[in-house]
Amino acid sequence: MSAPVDPTTTPAWEKLTQLASDLQPDLRGWFAADPGRAERFSHTAADLYVDLSKNLIDDAVIAALVELGEQVGLEERRDAMYAGEKINVTENRSVLHTALRRPRTDSLVVDGTDVVAQVHEVLDKVYDFANRVRSGEWKGVTGAQIKTVVNIGIGGSDLGPVMVYEALKPYVQAGLECRFVSNIDPTDVFEKTADLNPATTLFIVASKTFTTLETLTNARMAREWLLRKLRDAGSLDGSERMDADAISKHFVAVSTALDKVAAFGIDPANAFGFWDWVGGRYSVDSAVGTSLAVALGPDNFAGFLAGFNAIDRHFAETPLESNVPALMGLLNVWYVNFFKAGSHAVLPYAQYLHRFAAYLQQLTMESNGKGVRTDGSEVVTETGEIFWGEPGTNGQHAFYQLIHQGTQLIPADFIAVATPAHPIKDGDADVHELFLANFFAQTKALAFGKTADEVRAEGTAEAIVPARVFPGNRPTTSIMAPSLTPSVVGQLIALYEHITFTQGVVWGIDSFDQWGV
Ligand code: F6P
Repeated sequence: MSAPVDPTTTPAWEKLTQLASDLQPDLRGWFAADPGRAERFSHTAADLYVDLSKNLIDDAVIAALVELGEQVGLEERRDAMYAGEKINVTENRSVLHTALRRPRTDSLVVDGTDVVAQVHEVLDKVYDFANRVRSGEWKGVTGAQIKTVVNIGIGGSDLGPVMVYEALKPYVQAGLECRFVSNIDPTDVFEKTADLNPATTLFIVASKTFTTLETLTNARMAREWLLRKLRDAGSLDGSERMDADAISKHFVAVSTALDKVAAFGIDPANAFGFWDWVGGRYSVDSAVGTSLAVALGPDNFAGFLAGFNAIDRHFAETPLESNVPALMGLLNVWYVNFFKAGSHAVLPYAQYLHRFAAYLQQLTMESNGKGVRTDGSEVVTETGEIFWGEPGTNGQHAFYQLIHQGTQLIPADFIAVATPAHPIKDGDADVHELFLANFFAQTKALAFGKTADEVRAEGTAEAIVPARVFPGNRPTTSIMAPSLTPSVVGQLIALYEHITFTQGVVWGIDSFDQWGV
């Protein structure tokens, strides 16, 4: 792989430095003077409508950011990733999460193996298992049907499944529930199993390496809980044979290390594999999503994968000028490197996305929290910013104060869906409309602020006018989707994966290792 380009040596960087120093942010004035601004800076990617117009940009800035992408070789790196080149240099691995969502009819041969065929072989096995659990054909040791699936994993083997399970609650099969145990604090396993019937509980032990201390400890505690409870209920006679039978019916595993799964006592026939070319934080769309395939069903899981694939194709095929993940990644570079923004808020106006920011924290910060480039040289610019957030409107009553009136520049992504999952009214009032009104009002207030004269015009006493002024020019991106379907959730994840990738390419870092953990 070619050596990374030092972005600070590119002509585009020089241009951006000048543009940043000349920029006099005036979103209010820019919108007033340019009625086409919103349309010109908005783009569509699959079902996502992404409005970049409330960012601190003009045509020259966008053009220079696109040039930066070209000059650091963003498209070449992207193509190398999609083709299976070993772009994860410190681990000498391909980076092929995009292959996890390619249709069965595709083919991608890497090191002599068709990885797409491999992916679908495992998917078929996962779907068959999911169907058997969902239909009740898969039975526990007492012959009872499974009602609760407990995923045991941490980091990438937990955050994705939890986040997506929460996001797609309306799609969960009635009578089935998933729970997620991650922390080695024994409270976690205690609380998640306290009210469960072992006869109707199935554990999925998810660990890429199958060596992670937290996961193996939790899995052992869960195994001990299962056997003890079943013995107490008189369902097991204490013999090794019956214990093994119970484990084979109540424990399955997901891992790249199938030998270690067998050593733990899980029947390899009940293990679902994946590959070292899938990073943990990029793995929710692999067999790591088995709990989701069970809860949501194979058709919805396939829809989820199709959503990722739609954004993968957009990222691969769209010119940088209108390539949404590329533009959003380049914009993040604009703020981090030219405005010294140290953090980035992600604010979903969708309660079902309440774990989205937590999920993104691993994706973005484990990927781009790096200080050396792929060739071992030290970076000379800031790299990964802190990602954080909470759903609106909760965040409005907690930390928006700092985003509106604090001294730090915090770019924020606002995410909303047009059609609510539950169109409940408050009397005659459409509550989803009220909710969305907040989404629009907040991005407007952040962009346009409120001047001292406007504050005075509200009858505010002069002494407190300064405290009530909103400076405005706080950049936001609005991401809107028709509704929160499995496909849209896949699209949102893929969007942020490629934003993260874009930033990593500009900084010349390996976004796919994690030596710091
Ligand atoms: O924190 C390090 C890490 O390796 C993450 O990258 C990963 O998602 C997590 O631990 C869990 O790893 P595993 O799936 O191998 O148990």
